[in-house]
Amino acid sequence: MSKLWGGRFTKSAEEWVDEFGASISFDQELVLEDIRGSLAHVAMLKKCSILPGEDADLITSGLLTLQEKAEKGELSFKVEMEDIHLNLESMLIAEIGPVGGKLHTGRSRNDQVATDMHLYLRNQTEDVLGLISALQTALLEQAESHVETLIPGYTHLQRAQPISFAHHVMAYFWMLQRDKERFTESLKRINVSPLGAGALAGTTFPIDRAYSAELLGFDAIYENSLDAVSDRDFVLEFLSNSSTLMMHLSRFSEEIILWSSQEFQFIELDDAFSTGSSIMPQKKNPDMAELIRGKTGRVYGNLTGLLTVLKGLPLAYNKDMQEDKEGIFDTVKTVIGSLKIFEGMISTMKVNADVMEKATKNDFSNATELADYLAAKGMPFREAHEVVGKLVLSCVNQGCYLADLSLTQFKEASDLFNEDIYQALNPYEAVKRRNSAGGTGFEQVKLAIQKGKELVK
Ligand code: ARG
Repeated sequence: MSKLWGGRFTKSAEEWVDEFGASISFDQELVLEDIRGSLAHVAMLKKCSILPGEDADLITSGLLTLQEKAEKGELSFKVEMEDIHLNLESMLIAEIGPVGGKLHTGRSRNDQVATDMHLYLRNQTEDVLGLISALQTALLEQAESHVETLIPGYTHLQRAQPISFAHHVMAYFWMLQRDKERFTESLKRINVSPLGAGALAGTTFPIDRAYSAELLGFDAIYENSLDAVSDRDFVLEFLSNSSTLMMHLSRFSEEIILWSSQEFQFIELDDAFSTGSSIMPQKKNPDMAELIRGKTGRVYGNLTGLLTVLKGLPLAYNKDMQEDKEGIFDTVKTVIGSLKIFEGMISTMKVNADVMEKATKNDFSNATELADYLAAKGMPFREAHEVVGKLVLSCVNQGCYLADLSLTQFKEASDLFNEDIYQALNPYEAVKRRNSAGGTGFEQVKLAIQKGKELVK
């Protein structure tokens, strides 16, 4: 079949050149969005009497037939037809005859593709929001069953202070909450209609942009036709929000990988989310967590890629912009897959509470308790820090921990120490007492879980 834009040309490009320029191999992902946009466009053409009612109705029924076929996966696309827009238009003409050629009145592929991308990202953003909420629910469930499970808290990957495991898990809940806020906020800019901007300058036909926008569920229309067809900020925003989300999942993955190692043994991943080794029979590898950590790289790459594509592009549409597609499709697939896997991994993981708890006893992570103890009795904190530092050093030299020191030894260091020091050294007490707002104290953690539940409900 000849090109839909072939009138001005005297010879056709060779197949391999066509192939290089075509986007149909990937932009067929937009088939339903493209049909939806066309349905709104033709309804608008009818309403504004730009097309006779019967032509518009014929086009509408043709589009609905294509929609049905698309949903069943019955459409077959052709590389010669370049992209999803021209493929569908030629299919429409094949379906209903030359009248199908009237669909493109007052429209260009430039506002058409932009419309498709807006519709696509609106759907995907809503899916992503739902999946983040599902993951948050899994986190809340783990948190609820582990409010009083203790785990060493780390800074510099050195044991710092004991904390509640629920508190650790809830840290990720709040990161995800911010991710949700960012995705939700971006909908404001995604849900704007470029349709009717034409190629770049608007159109001579008396179109009603507000009407087609309303049919498509958009909240507003672009104010400037050049901007409408050139803007891919909303795609960048999705990529950037996805990058931050993946960074969070990647950090959590790293902890899951550490925790499930022989060295930590804090958790055990379910068999369904682990794999074995083809050579070492004993292995149970946290592959899914590793993959999510790894896939974070491709999402960052897609963001950097599109930023680079757009940098220096003159107004308005340039074919470079076709390069926005593969990166965004890949990102959507990666983010959705990662969120689903993560939810499964978290809700099925086994927490070895006793191992975690034991870890909080055999270390110096209660040293701050001693310093706080002295400070509460009036010693300047800086001095208290020095006194306890010396006690730690003497323990290290003797090969014991702080709770192993006798009261006499404590009193030698400072006469402010009394019998109740042993209670202060107990990690459970240490965690319980950190009841400042947002702290790891059990009461605070329970409050946070309550707040979290309100937010995902
Ligand atoms: N396939 C193109 C893209 O994805 C559609 C827009 C083409 N417009 C044009 N004037 N060549 O960007």
